[in-house]
Amino acid sequence: MNLMPKILCVDDDPLNLRLLEAFLSPRGYAPVMAANGMEALEKIREGRIDVVLLDVMMPKMDGFEVCRRIKADERYRTIPVVMITGHSAREKRIMGIEAGAEDFISKPFDAMEVLARIGMLLRVKKLNGQLDAAYHNITSLIAFGEGLTAAFDPLRFDLKANVMNIFRRFIARSPEMTESPRVVLVGMREPDGSCTMHRYWHSGTDLAVAPVEAGILCFPSLPVGDSGIAFFNQADLGDPIRERLTSILSDLGITPTNLACHLGDNISMYALNYGRQVSRYDAEVLNSVVNQTLFLKSLSLQVKETEDAFAYTVFALARASEANDDDTGNHISRVGEYCALLARQLGMPETFVETIRLQSSMHDVGKIHTPPAILKKPGKLDPEEFEIIKQHTVQGATIIGDHVRLTLAKSIALSHHERFDGTGYPYGLKGDRIPIEGRIMALADHYDALRNPRVYKPALGHETTMRIITEGDGRTFPRHFDPQVLAGFMEISGRFAEIYDGFSTSA
Ligand SMILES: [Fe+2]
Ligand SMILES: [Fe+2]
Repeated sequence: MNLMPKILCVDDDPLNLRLLEAFLSPRGYAPVMAANGMEALEKIREGRIDVVLLDVMMPKMDGFEVCRRIKADERYRTIPVVMITGHSAREKRIMGIEAGAEDFISKPFDAMEVLARIGMLLRVKKLNGQLDAAYHNITSLIAFGEGLTAAFDPLRFDLKANVMNIFRRFIARSPEMTESPRVVLVGMREPDGSCTMHRYWHSGTDLAVAPVEAGILCFPSLPVGDSGIAFFNQADLGDPIRERLTSILSDLGITPTNLACHLGDNISMYALNYGRQVSRYDAEVLNSVVNQTLFLKSLSLQVKETEDAFAYTVFALARASEANDDDTGNHISRVGEYCALLARQLGMPETFVETIRLQSSMHDVGKIHTPPAILKKPGKLDPEEFEIIKQHTVQGATIIGDHVRLTLAKSIALSHHERFDGTGYPYGLKGDRIPIEGRIMALADHYDALRNPRVYKPALGHETTMRIITEGDGRTFPRHFDPQVLAGFMEISGRFAEIYDGFSTSA
């Protein structure tokens, strides 16, 4: 690889070209000669040119036109052009500026001045290159950030899948996009301390991924410091990180021309073979991506913890309300399971299924207000006592309150004694006026109440309970239930029996 800056010299006078070559060559530059405009454009297309020294007065295509064409091409417009002009005339310089030239030199030129200008333009070009790379990195970071947060679901966050997805995106999607790395290796520490590593690379038009036996590459001991990042380019001979990684990677059949990496405690990642020089910023991009991902992971853990605490509190309150009941609290666990089962059978969304599983437990929370003597009365309740019992629905809704997270719990507390035919309480709602969660809960609650022994009745078997619900017994009638809920129940009633037996025996 020729690392000497290539200076394209364009002049129709061979004497001038020889002159330029004579003082550029010994000073560490690689002059490339072109005798006219067409040849100059061809040379630019052929290879990496760093600076163009361009004669203005040439036959066929003059220097202004050559310059305009260079600057009109997205691929070459950043190559600095110096116009060599015999005219010091102001208008010619203006034409040159309009054509996009970066600088001017007057003929006959002074060798030292030409060298000084070339040196300055090369520095500008290098800075431009760094700016381009930084822009590219910022753009990638924004894209990663957007991708990460758009797909973020705190309750279902999967660190591994997340990291894998990022690196699918990280590698250029098309082979023309040579700015991005061609290969990415991602190592992750498993909970048992072992490590897995995957390799992502281009395979024709698509991206390929495969596990690799990377061994030491997962968590190598390298002098990366606290930042955990490192990078190198091909020219960094003698760099200890380059030497070590090149040797490890060659065992995997990979030859790194350049590399940026992040080495963390639980994640290591290497991006290799960018189509340009890499810098500290490329490693910083990797670092940032990992940190964003780890941040989402910790956010996800916090959200999960809060969710657990919420569920725990809901259930604790529900248990408290059952304290005066003759069941041991398994009733609320069972109805949660029946409700979830019925809701899923009815095709309700999964979030509804999970919410009703938990929040149905609060259906009788209003019984905290009901005198134990009434709750535990063995005989038939008199009308006044029944009026008091009825109030547990409205009282439950009041206790639960209006928090948006407990909307379903409140609705169930209020409506679980309504009957589809309008003979229930507290409002005597009929049919679809009763919310679906109330209709589901009515059946679940009733099934469990029949199965369970109470002070005023013995326990009933599954078959007897089924018959009472589907055929009626003079107190319970099928018309009390939503026909759709009832149909769903009949399809899966065997699982109700399993739930009842499971929770009762483990009590
Ligand atoms: Fe109730
Ligand atoms: Fe109940």
